Amino acid sequence: MFGWFKRNKKNAPTASSAVPVITFDGPSGSGKGTIARRVADALGYHMLDSGALYRLVALAADEACVALENSDKLAAVAKQLDVRFEANGAGEEVVRLNGQDVTERLRTEQTGAGASTVAQIPAVRDALLARQRAFRKVPGLVADGRDMGTHVFPDARLKVYLTASAEERAKRRHKQLKDKGLNVSLAALSRDIEDRDRRDSERTVAPLKPAMDARFLDTTGQSIEAVTQTVLDWVAEL
Ligand code: C5P
Repeated sequence: MFGWFKRNKKNAPTASSAVPVITFDGPSGSGKGTIARRVADALGYHMLDSGALYRLVALAADEACVALENSDKLAAVAKQLDVRFEANGAGEEVVRLNGQDVTERLRTEQTGAGASTVAQIPAVRDALLARQRAFRKVPGLVADGRDMGTHVFPDARLKVYLTASAEERAKRRHKQLKDKGLNVSLAALSRDIEDRDRRDSERTVAPLKPAMDARFLDTTGQSIEAVTQTVLDWVAEL
């Protein structure tokens, strides 16, 4: 079905690069997580939520009382991250850090802000690189983040850069948090998202930017189903 499986022996890729990867990058609230999950489910692929790893580093640092400015210690925290992604009885994802369920804490705006601070540190990004690449397993991987297509999987078969208007992104995030029972004002959330976007785009290492060969998709006003279908049509064209 997918063209990339049709390879001749002479150009046979190495074991890892033979596994197809689809990347989703873009700013907070652009729909990456939701669309990536739908596409992974439709294709039966594994899923990497790379933002969760940066969030986990921020949480682990908090638990170990490591300051978010302490680069050396933060890199050590990132290297030693003891994390498990599991499913509960209802099939929902449960994230465990040092054996403790941190699923809810992981998604707060405070953890997101901590994540974007630790994500500016090159040694932290380096420490997470191999861990992210280890998610690349047969039959394929859908990876979502900020630098998936530019840095972590530059040889991805399809790179999607998702955007949406700032207003819509803030509203989506607000709804997501409300659905989880977390109460945040929309105005405060808009400011947080703006700050985080600025930090993510302006940092020197692996900043948020589209890969040269990325396909752009503006999700403003589009349904989840429509966006998912557009991506699946692109996959079918490969
Ligand atoms: O996507 P999510 O909101 O969970 O990401 C949290 C933060 O982690 C982002 O704001 C960004 O600073 C950082 N991040 C990153 N590179 C990635 C994924 C996330 O720098 N690939």
